[in-house]
Amino acid sequence: MSRKTKGGGGSAYRGDRFTKQAKAQGYTARSVFKLEEIDRKAGLIKRGMAVVDLGCFPGSWTRYVAQRVGVKGHVVGVDLEAPQGVVGNFIVRSVYEVEPEELLDAIGGKADVVLSDMAQSTTGQKDMDHLRQISLVERAHWLAQRVLKPGGSIVYKVFDGGDANACIAAIKRDFETLKRYKPEAVRSVSREFFVAGTGFRGFSEEE
Ligand SMILES: C[S@@+](CC[C@H](N)C(=O)[O-])C[C@H]1O[C@@H](n2cnc3c(N)ncnc32)[C@H](O)[C@@H]1O
Repeated sequence: MSRKTKGGGGSAYRGDRFTKQAKAQGYTARSVFKLEEIDRKAGLIKRGMAVVDLGCFPGSWTRYVAQRVGVKGHVVGVDLEAPQGVVGNFIVRSVYEVEPEELLDAIGGKADVVLSDMAQSTTGQKDMDHLRQISLVERAHWLAQRVLKPGGSIVYKVFDGGDANACIAAIKRDFETLKRYKPEAVRSVSREFFVAGTGFRGFSEEE
């Protein structure tokens, strides 16, 4: 049965609009509009930047970033699967098996921006799914602390739930600003939201 609604406000309608728009623009996923909205509002990704894209498959964020940074910029994607038909440098492995040195080598130095749109497949066990999702955000941030330039920025996908606020509070300490976004392309029923941090304060292993 079709879930389409006639009006413009329903979540099914919104989802459909972004899926169609992604297809029309040659993007592999509607998620691109989440990043596009955050980037438009926060002004994060610029020409010549080096960007790490964690959880990059099927590649719509990577493609968006590659267009934004241009030929003098770099984008390195990490996922369990390699995007097809997207130009980029990919590490095909779990983030838990990727070391900071490998990312630094792939970028050729420190990154200006670290993105994470990672999401685990759900098991149906709500508490366990939430903890696994928080663990992905923590791993993204553990890597970001070690590969991000001072002054750099992050965007992480987070799912609301018991441990989300504590996780965000810990991340916030590392940035001058940290803002929460629920882009239009996120289905209104979803617990998904994003945090964007700017002005990374730097990190030392001795901390
Ligand atoms: C919502 S998709 C990302 C969509 C992507 N940003 C795009 O626009 O095409 C989430 C991705 O997170 C990846 N992921 C989940 N757990 C991961 C892990 N441990 N290491 C790396 N990637 C992971 C999944 O394989 C999946 O491709």
